[in-house]
Amino acid sequence: MPEKSVFLYPEMSPETKKITIAIDGYSSCGKSTLAKALARELGYIFIDSGAMYRAITLYSFRKNLVGTDFMDQEKIIASLDDIELHFEFNPLSSKLEIILNGENVEKEIRTLQISQLVSQVSSIKEVRKKLVSEQRKIGRKGGVVMDGRDIGSVVFPHAELKLFITADPMVRAERRFLELDDPSLSMQDVLQNLQQRDHIDSTRKESPLVKTEDAIVIDNSFLTPDEQLQKALELVADRIPAEK
Ligand code: DC
Repeated sequence: MPEKSVFLYPEMSPETKKITIAIDGYSSCGKSTLAKALARELGYIFIDSGAMYRAITLYSFRKNLVGTDFMDQEKIIASLDDIELHFEFNPLSSKLEIILNGENVEKEIRTLQISQLVSQVSSIKEVRKKLVSEQRKIGRKGGVVMDGRDIGSVVFPHAELKLFITADPMVRAERRFLELDDPSLSMQDVLQNLQQRDHIDSTRKESPLVKTEDAIVIDNSFLTPDEQLQKALELVADRIPAEK
């Protein structure tokens, strides 16, 4: 057995039970940053469920099934069997990246264009059904940190730890603006997109974004990524059964 000191907490060893961590919250509020850091610290896998919705949106956009003012829902549903998604580890980014029908689309799914269409596509019931089933398969054995909108409410309702992340909309827009680093965009464009997505995501009929009763809220408006991580790690430590 490796030295205990390689583990974050003295009581953690390879035999320690791996829990499931569900992280939900609004767009661009640091969910993925936290999920990725938690997974790294704990030796878990991190799954960005939003990337799966974005990949289906990219596929639909390329096939001209969705655009700024139209969406062919029937055709998107009919195409779902032609869409194969999986994640592959990229040692350069040290994260799992999304593969759409054999193509790494990690970058293409992050454009503002796809961000503007993804909430619509992800409100389609059949799209959600396909992705929830795939997400559950990935998380079957625990040891997973998954972030999204319905992870604690629908995908893993029995997750040992549920976090609901939030931050001030202006703070979120500013972070996203810096991340996108696109001179053709204004802060206002980014803020508007966030507010639109928040609205659609939390009012849609199919599994809207909700804070479940057992979720713990972290408002990170004034927290550094590391402070946020430390808070979450304390919560994880409380939920991992100590070894006898
Ligand atoms: O986390 P993100 O911003 O990359 O997610 C993109 C969109 O996907 C988001 O606006 C709503 C949708 N989504 C969802 O409906 N359910 C999830 N579990 C994850 C994302």
